[in-house]
Amino acid sequence: MRKLKLGVMISGRGSNLQSLIDACARANFPAEITVVISNRPGVYGLARAELAGIKQVTIDHKDYENRETFEDAVQEELQSNEVELLCLAGFMRILNSSFVNKWKDRMLNVHPSLLPAFKGLHTHERAIEAGCRFTGCTIHYVVPDLDAGPIILQTAVPIAEEDTAETLAQKVLEYEHSMYPEAVRLIADNRVRVSGHKALIKDMTTPEKGLINPVPFGS
Ligand code: GRF
Repeated sequence: MRKLKLGVMISGRGSNLQSLIDACARANFPAEITVVISNRPGVYGLARAELAGIKQVTIDHKDYENRETFEDAVQEELQSNEVELLCLAGFMRILNSSFVNKWKDRMLNVHPSLLPAFKGLHTHERAIEAGCRFTGCTIHYVVPDLDAGPIILQTAVPIAEEDTAETLAQKVLEYEHSMYPEAVRLIADNRVRVSGHKALIKDMTTPEKGLINPVPFGS
């Protein structure tokens, strides 16, 4: 089985990375991780990669003069590991549009809100503060504007009265972990097409647990 080559970029604990590692460990999963890159040294996500026997590299942004030279080093690493799809998983640096455009329709991100609501940071605090009844998470393609790319999958998660940002983050994270591998699988199976600002999904007949209304091809 041909496997799509993934690069995963992290900045921290790497629980979403772990969900991708676990998915890729399944024989019938159509993707494999060829490199994990962290911009922060010593983070737990790197240990997760090492434990799984996956190549892991630290490219510390502080060692570079500017964003461009940092991104050039990242690009070189991705190319030398033949990465075809780049997955941002808790990667906490803004990327220049020149880098983002090189990965157009080939770079994903996981965001802990129902985009386009609550772009940026502190999404759970803000959703609770706004009195939302639901929040959720989104897997989307990355475009130069922050958290604005075509949405692939979303899951809505109810907000309970007693929820704090921490309890809500924990609930939402579980769905992030099931959705990220699912989005990768759809792409590897060639079932996602970007049309304008939308990502369309082919033959999404039986929505998996928690996936809300993916837009089918042809609609
Ligand atoms: C996740 O909540 C993700 O949605 C956000 O950053 C967090 C990363 O967590 N972009 P982890 O490093 O994957 O555990």
